This record gives sequence, structure tokens and C-alpha cells, in this order.
Amino acid sequence: MFINKDFFDSKNIHEGSFIVESPSNIALIKYWGKYGVQLPCNPSISITLNNAKTIAKISFERKNKSDDKLDLDFYFEGSHNEKFREKIEKFFLDMKDFFPFVFDFKFRIDSSNTFPHSSGIASSASSMSAFASSLVEIEKRLSESQYGDEYYVSKASFAARIGSGSACRSLYPKMAVWGDSQDVDASTNDFAVIYKDFDLKFEGIKDSIAIVSAKEKAVSSRAGHALMNNHPFREVRFSNARKNLHDLLMALREGDFEAFTNIVESEALELHGLMMNSNPSFILMEPNTLEIIFKIRKYRNETGHPICFTLDAGPNVHILYLKSHESEILKFLESDIRPLCANQIIIHDEMGMGTNVKNS
Ligand code: DP6
Repeated sequence: MFINKDFFDSKNIHEGSFIVESPSNIALIKYWGKYGVQLPCNPSISITLNNAKTIAKISFERKNKSDDKLDLDFYFEGSHNEKFREKIEKFFLDMKDFFPFVFDFKFRIDSSNTFPHSSGIASSASSMSAFASSLVEIEKRLSESQYGDEYYVSKASFAARIGSGSACRSLYPKMAVWGDSQDVDASTNDFAVIYKDFDLKFEGIKDSIAIVSAKEKAVSSRAGHALMNNHPFREVRFSNARKNLHDLLMALREGDFEAFTNIVESEALELHGLMMNSNPSFILMEPNTLEIIFKIRKYRNETGHPICFTLDAGPNVHILYLKSHESEILKFLESDIRPLCANQIIIHDEMGMGTNVKNS
């Protein structure tokens, strides 16, 4: 798949550069458990974010002579960063069968994130989707053949998936589904697809991220997914996720925020429940995670405002709410939630338009 037989690097392009911007995303139905080459055990759906993103300038220059060595210079926020460079080098090498030109060029990447590194926001989704798109962009510039948008974005999503599973959903505007599902046309485990069938009410939905702790993740994604391999609730989880996706799609179509809330909160708590019940066991919530959850539920019960929460594999709380109630909810976040956050940090984000590439 995606080994493009029509690709001929015959335009003799010597060099080029461009800027890629790619956002993070927040899953509503979680990807937790994988097999093979980063294939998901259940389908997931996410909202593409807008403000939390990776911005990278990619420059490429043809080598005098092609060899089998990768030549990649990587700068993060202006300085060499060996740890990140090794990750990206591994990613480019993993991609060599799909982008055979990786040995023909020298690459320089100057990357930065719009969110603080220590905010606990996962950077792998935004960065891997940015670097995967860069490879497709270079392929497109080198290729003689016509390049369809659908091929471009699916190949970028496919490549991003191999870099980091959840990254494959960041390419698309608004919402994306990744993983085989009877409920979504053309869905596949290989890459994510756009999901458009939601009520206008959810358009521009907000995600304010309450930073409870800015410490490094206590459990890496890889170790976390591995906990599902022998998990006692493995099969129950995968069937729940499928049912939750089915029900959530209905809530999205019907604009039913109450049903949306029940499913999204249950997914977040199930993810944490799975971690608490795994061997070894992890408790990734902190006391203030629970405090914030209680406050959100109390506020919702008292006001009826459309607000709910979800969690990643960490203590920070993603507070989701409809744009229609933004001004009232922002007041609540300021008075009740900000004091519970580490260094009083809340990062305001919202539904965004996915990856974008422009000339530098
Ligand atoms: C809890 O995509 O970070 O955020 O494929 O190992 O890179 P790897 O894992 P990753 O896992 C994300 C898990 C999650 C849920 C989700 O985003 O669906």
C-alpha cells in the first residue's frame, strides 16, 4: 500500500523548502491497544485542535551522490535536539519503502510547538503528522504524475500512523475516524478518514485544557498500549469502544449533547479504569483531576450548560463545551477551574482545520 508505482523522481528538482503546520487532536473514543505495525484494536474518533500545533520549516537539497545514509539535521526551538532527531531519523528510515527519495536528499528541519513542552500536551500527534505530511509534500514536488488531494492526505495519514497512531487523525479538518468500523464509510485501520456527519451545534466546539500537572507522562504510550495485551477486560473494552463509537456518531448527527456527554465521559473514565486495572497498575489522575471533574459535573447539573470532560493518558482535563455557551463557561473556568491548575494554566483550544503546508 502506498508504494507509488507511478512515482518517478525525474523532474530533477535540486532543492526546496516549505512550512508545515499540524495540530494535536483530542480523542472522544479512545485508541488504547494496538497490534502489528501500529494498527488499532478498535476504531477511534477525534476532534482536530487548532492552537496546539507543531510548526516546522522543512528544507531539502539533493545530495551529489545518493547513498544509503540518512542525512537529517534537526533543530527544535532553535537548538539541536538529539533525542528528537533520533526519533525523526527512525521515522524517516521506517518510511524508506514508501518514500524512496529519503536517501537522495539532505534534510533540515526547524521545528517548534505552539504549546509549552512541559504542559503535558502530547506532541507526538502534531509532530508526526507534520513530518509525515512533509514527506508527501516532497514526493508531490518531485513527482511527474498528477497528485490527487485524497491520495495525498491518505498517504500522509498512513505515514503519520506509523510514526504515532493518534497522529494519523490530525491531518483532517474538524473530526477524523481511524479504524475499521461498519458505521463509517471507507474507514480503515491503515489511515484515518475525515468525519463530517455532525450537527452544526458541534461546529467550532471548544476544548480548554486544564493543566493539572506539567510533569512528563508517568507511562509512555507504547507501554500503555502494551498493558492491553493481557488485560483481563481486553475483549470487553474493544466491544465497548465499538458500541460507544456507534452511539456517539448518532449523538453527533442528532446534536444530542447529553448523549455526547455520557459517552465521552464514560470513554475517558474507562481509559483510566483500564490503566488502574492493568498489571502493573497506573493511577494517572491526580487529586485535582477529580476535583475538576466534580466541579464540571456540579456546574452542568446546576446550569444545564453544554460542558463535559475527557482525559488523555495523563492527569490534565480536556474541558469540552459548545461555542454557543462560551462566554458563561469561560467565567466558570476562570473562577472555579483555574485555581486548581498547575501554575494556574489553562490552554484554550477549539476545533481546527488540520494540517497545512505553505511555501516558505
Ligand atoms: C490515550 O498515539 O500516543 O491519547 O501509537 O504508541 O504513538 P502510539 O500511541 P499514541 O496513543 C494515544 C492514546 C490516547 C488515546 C487516543 O488519542 O486515541
